[in-house]
Amino acid sequence: MSRFKAVIFDLDGVITDTAHYHYLAWKRLAESEGVPFDEAFNEHLKGVDRMGSLDLILARGSRSYTQDEKLALADTKNRHYQQLIATMTPDDLLPGALRALEEVRAAGLKTGLASVSKNAFTVLDRLGIRDRFDYVVDAARIANSKPHPEIFLTAAQNLGVAPGDCLGVEDAVAGVASIKDAGMYAVGVGSPEVLTRADRVIPSLQKFSLQDY
Ligand code: BG6
Ligand code: MG
Repeated sequence: MSRFKAVIFDLDGVITDTAHYHYLAWKRLAESEGVPFDEAFNEHLKGVDRMGSLDLILARGSRSYTQDEKLALADTKNRHYQQLIATMTPDDLLPGALRALEEVRAAGLKTGLASVSKNAFTVLDRLGIRDRFDYVVDAARIANSKPHPEIFLTAAQNLGVAPGDCLGVEDAVAGVASIKDAGMYAVGVGSPEVLTRADRVIPSLQKFSLQDY
């Protein structure tokens, strides 16, 4: 028996390694604009939506951009990203991801997905796991990107579960903040030095076990 009624997962960097594809696509774009880009800076972009990420990147450069230029740059990054995800298959599920989803449902809990990526449905379909979720938030309907709690609260509401009965799983600093500010229990996937607000941190979903929380 778990004390939770639902588990709400992030997608990029938790279920599959698309966090790396976002990194590669942003790096290519940033460097074409002469903006320095590395893994440490990328950490601030995880969980942040497309335009929000672009603003953070361009703020490191030396010139200003019109709204039309920004939209064109965001579109270019998205095309780089879509090229990278086009060949994904179920083999791109991270180790432990499928087992974790199965464990949650077998224990009678609901499964939700809370990704701010507008490519999330495509990625779920390429991985063949869309039907593993009772509710997937449509990022196009979310007004506030993580770290705002809106996306996790939306998932909980549509699952019909109170936030306090939800466990959220995230690899991003902004994502863990979103879970905590939604009033949920946060399991971080990554390093405890980075995900300092998480209630528990595991290195990957291979170590996810409902009985630990
Ligand atoms: C998040 C990623 O899940 O989605 C971010 O962590 C990404 O890196 C964001 O920028 C938006 O994704 P997309 O596919 O809508 O550009
Ligand atoms: Mg993520």
